[in-house]
Amino acid sequence: MAVALLLLWALCNAIRVNGEESNGRCDHKLKFNPRPHSVSIQEFGAIGDGKTLNTIAFRNAIFYLKSFADKGGAQLYVPPGRWLTGSFNLTSHLTLFLEKDAIILGSQDPSHWGIVEPLPSYGRGIELPGRRYRSLVNGYMLRDVVITGDNGTIDGQGSVWWEWFTSHSLNYTRPHLVEFVSSEYVLVSNISLLNAPAYNIHPVYCSNVHIHNISVYAPPESPYTVGIVPDSSDNICIEDCNISMGHDAIAFKSGWDEYGIAYGRPTTIAHVRRVDLRSSTGSSLAFGSEMSGGISDILVEEVHLYDSLTGIEFRTTIGRGGYIKEIMISDVDLLNVNTSFAAIGDYGSHPDDKFDPDAFPVLEKITLQNIIGTNITIAGNFKGIEESPFTFICLSNISLSINSTSLSPWQCSYVSGFSESVFPEPCPELMNSSTSSCGILMLELQFYNIIL
Ligand SMILES: *[C@@H]1O[C@H](CO)[C@@H](O)[C@H](O)[C@H]1NC(C)=O
Ligand SMILES: *[C@@H]1O[C@H](CO)[C@@H](O)[C@H](O)[C@H]1NC(C)=O
Ligand SMILES: *[C@@H]1O[C@H](CO)[C@@H](O)[C@H](O)[C@H]1NC(C)=O
Ligand SMILES: *[C@@H]1O[C@H](CO)[C@@H](O)[C@H](O)[C@H]1NC(C)=O
Ligand SMILES: *[C@@H]1O[C@H](CO)[C@@H](O)[C@H](O)[C@H]1NC(C)=O
Ligand SMILES: *[C@@H]1O[C@H](CO)[C@@H](O)[C@H](O)[C@H]1NC(C)=O
Ligand SMILES: *[C@@H]1O[C@H](CO)[C@@H](O)[C@H](O)[C@H]1NC(C)=O
Ligand SMILES: *[C@@H]1O[C@H](CO)[C@@H](O)[C@H](O)[C@H]1NC(C)=O
Ligand SMILES: *[C@@H]1O[C@H](CO)[C@@H](O)[C@H](O)[C@H]1NC(C)=O
Ligand SMILES: *[C@@H]1O[C@H](CO)[C@@H](O)[C@H](O)[C@H]1NC(C)=O
Ligand SMILES: *[C@@H]1O[C@H](CO)[C@@H](O)[C@H](O)[C@H]1NC(C)=O
Repeated sequence: MAVALLLLWALCNAIRVNGEESNGRCDHKLKFNPRPHSVSIQEFGAIGDGKTLNTIAFRNAIFYLKSFADKGGAQLYVPPGRWLTGSFNLTSHLTLFLEKDAIILGSQDPSHWGIVEPLPSYGRGIELPGRRYRSLVNGYMLRDVVITGDNGTIDGQGSVWWEWFTSHSLNYTRPHLVEFVSSEYVLVSNISLLNAPAYNIHPVYCSNVHIHNISVYAPPESPYTVGIVPDSSDNICIEDCNISMGHDAIAFKSGWDEYGIAYGRPTTIAHVRRVDLRSSTGSSLAFGSEMSGGISDILVEEVHLYDSLTGIEFRTTIGRGGYIKEIMISDVDLLNVNTSFAAIGDYGSHPDDKFDPDAFPVLEKITLQNIIGTNITIAGNFKGIEESPFTFICLSNISLSINSTSLSPWQCSYVSGFSESVFPEPCPELMNSSTSSCGILMLELQFYNIIL
């Protein structure tokens, strides 16, 4: 049963939520039935010595468990050990359970990962034209899939990929650790993800994806590693996670220029709460820059962002089209962050020269409220687009302690918005007093409460 909830989006000073349904979407837990059948990966000949390649065992086990799809589904149990593998596919109505001290290790031989076609909303691999490496753990057109455990680990052993990336010796775009394509009712919980070659969890064209209580880590120097990337997907909950990355911790995306515009699937209705995010060279919380299908209706609350280059960043560029709008970010604690907030209108590159130079992206209706920052260098950097200025930016109840006197704390161009109780005092563009409010925006959130 879907419960509809109306969020009244008043000005900076208040977001009014209808009655008692003020709980976030993460409160509407997806419910997965226990699986009546369980097999251990060892029954398929896997050896957890960290050396034996177990790709065939994983593939055979999952092929076998497919036959339980119409019998309540099944669990694949991974006991303690170091289980080296190449890429494999999950199946519907499956739980992959990683016991304490179970580690799935990604092979460091690219031939064990395989190559796949680019995503239609990107038209090519993000890093290199053409096809891309297949992710380690894949879900394609699935329903009702769980990856969980007792803090078992999926370790991508990404160091080789980072070296190849840095030395420009890759022939295809790097793979991700876990990718779900066109899938629904997906849960990832109670595990750790380590050292992804590129992204850690990439749900693309998915609905109803919940990510709970996981820790995600890649070293600060790992190039362009990203934690969780909801991409052209909807009904996403991310809660109680610790993510520390080389680049972005959580990045919302929705396709690239003319490919993303043509595919036309937005990322919408997402709720992020109680997360600890760190990103050495990127943003703890990023929107875009690939956003051509649109990004909207995102609620983020109770987040701790630390030791990051940028805290919260909205990115786009001419040629993207699409929009980033109706984003509410509340109750944020920033510590040791160079730039607290950024909205950049010339960020990122194009897939090819066929992008439409008149495809101006829209960025509007962004609320940032109840934010405290310590040891911050730049409060805000808002760099809009002349032909499509950023509008309805609302800043409320923000206090940042700035550690530099040499730089101006706010940098603003082609942006307008409102602020109240913001310290240091924002640029005039963000202190519009010609109207008393951002206007009341209605935001309809489709809640879900489905028992599979
Ligand atoms: C995994 O899924 C992809 C996409 O559906 C498919 O092309 C590939 O053959 C599958 N691999 C295996 C081993 O089933
Ligand atoms: C989080 O996961 C760990 C194991 O990874 C488990 O011990 C803990 O109870 C989980 N917490 C919640 C709230 O589920
Ligand atoms: C899970 O294990 C990781 C290390 O692999 C650790 O950093 C994290 O704190 C653990 N999480 C829980 C909830 O025990
Ligand atoms: C890229 O292709 C070249 C030529 O086939 C090969 O020698 C090289 O090992 C490949 N690079 C990677 C990282 O696989
Ligand atoms: C995560 O672990 C906790 C504690 O063991 C357990 O209560 C919870 O059900 C687990 N979550 C899932 C989705 O398995
Ligand atoms: C996240 O970090 C906090 C504080 O260090 C810890 O209490 C919590 O268990 C961690 N959660 C996970 C999922 O690792
Ligand atoms: C501010 O942050 C920087 C870098 O994160 C750190 O080196 C410095 O010690 C911090 N300053 C204070 C006063 O905490
Ligand atoms: C100011 O904070 C930034 C970000 O935390 C840090 O990089 C820089 O070193 C800090 N400067 C001082 C003088 O602490
Ligand atoms: C902080 O951001 C400013 C402006 O983007 C940049 O010039 C400076 O190098 C950054 N500082 C660090 C330590 O990265
Ligand atoms: C302002 O923000 C702080 C910290 O985020 C919070 O504790 C406080 O309750 C907020 N004040 C109002 C009036 O919402
Ligand atoms: C103030 O808002 C009005 C209407 O929303 C807009 O036309 C005007 O450009 C804004 N002024 C500034 C300084 O941003």
